[in-house]
This record gives sequence, C-alpha cells and structure tokens, in this order.
Amino acid sequence: MKGIVFTEFFEMVEKEFGYEMVDTLVDTTNLPSGGIYTAVGTYDHSEIVALVVNLSNRTQIPVPALLRAYGKYLFQTFTRAYHHFIVKAPDAFTFLGFIHNYIHVEVRKLYPDAELPHFDIEHADDNTLIMNYYSSRKMADFAHGLIEGTLLHFGENATITQQAINEDGSHVQFVIVK
Ligand code: HEM
Repeated sequence: MKGIVFTEFFEMVEKEFGYEMVDTLVDTTNLPSGGIYTAVGTYDHSEIVALVVNLSNRTQIPVPALLRAYGKYLFQTFTRAYHHFIVKAPDAFTFLGFIHNYIHVEVRKLYPDAELPHFDIEHADDNTLIMNYYSSRKMADFAHGLIEGTLLHFGENATITQQAINEDGSHVQFVIVK
C-alpha cells in the first residue's frame, strides 16, 4: 500500500488517541518496514492490517469499526489532496460512479504499483446505487468508510447496506439508498 495510507492512519490515531498510541503501535506491531513510511513509498498491505488489529486490541474497538472510521477520515484528506477529481462530480452518486473508471485509473498512472479494488456500478434507480467491491485485500469496511466520507462531503444523506457475497470478504455488495 502507498505510504499515504499509513501516514494518514497515524494522523488519525494521534488525533483520536494521542501520540503515545502511535508510538506504542509502532513499537509493538511486527512491521517489516520498521514503521517508517514516506507518502510516495510502497509497503506491504499486511502492515496496515497488523496496525489496525493492534489498535483494536488496545482500544477494544472492533477492526471493522476502525477501518470504517479510517476510510471516512481518509476521504477528508483526499478532498484536499485530490480536489481536482472531486470538483468534476455534481453529486455523491456521480462521484462514486467515477471511482473505478476515472479516479483509480488516474491514481494508477501516478503510482503504477498502487493496489486498487475493482468496482462494478449499477444505477438501480435515481435513488439507489449498487456498488460491487472486489479485492483480494478484503477491505470492504474501509470502502464503507470512504462511501460515508463521500456522502458527508457532498452533504447528502443515504443509507448504506453492506453485504458479503462470498465467504472470505473479497466480494462485497453495497446498496446505497437516498
Ligand atoms: C478522490 C478520491 C479517491 C482517491 C484519490 C483514491 C485513491 C486511492 C489510493 C491512493 C489508494 C491506495 C492504493 C495503495 O495503497 O496501493 C486507494 C485504495 C482504495 N480505494 Fe480509493 N480513492 C478515492 C476514493 C475512493 C472511494 C470513494 C472508494 C469507495 C467507494 C475507494 C475505495 C478504495 C479502497 C477500498 C481501497 C483499498 C484497496 C483495496 O481494497 O483493494 N476509493 N484509493
């Protein structure tokens, strides 16, 4: 995963739990990188999972809730760092429809080694968007938080239902209803 995923994670942990927690996580998680991340570097995906699991054990907050909170937080960073992508969409559904065929495509041009999920989009009706998430990284809870962050950014209210389609979590369906 790109370093930005780690540096922003530590920022959220510092804001929510204090700098000591960041220090503790770096000291007590088995991190092949040594816990030193630069925004443009690439690190093993298992390191973010190990950090989140460690944080969950220390805070008693379940892993899915932490990943979701992190996705929501990271979206705010994206609205600043990747503002030019977001202004192109008039509303949340249009934006979510752009992710797979435009935004993540541009991300891959910037970072050819980025590990990105696959999304299938279905506009069931004007008020319903169906997103199928596919990824061997099984980060649907993180996607859920990013969708929440998107709705918040566009000032829209919607209900997000998340349903695992297969057992290992590599295919998950989101039904978003306005
Ligand atoms: C401006 C908006 C966005 C930008 C710039 C962006 C960019 C990125 C970047 C840089 C990564 C990390 C890739 C890596 O570490 O190798 C990533 C991963 C990811 N993105 Fe996006 N993203 C955006 C919006 C979204 C939204 C709205 C969703 C959800 C609907 C989403 C779903 C994901 C997921 C789930 C991953 C984790 C990798 C995986 O599950 O395989 N992204 N994105």
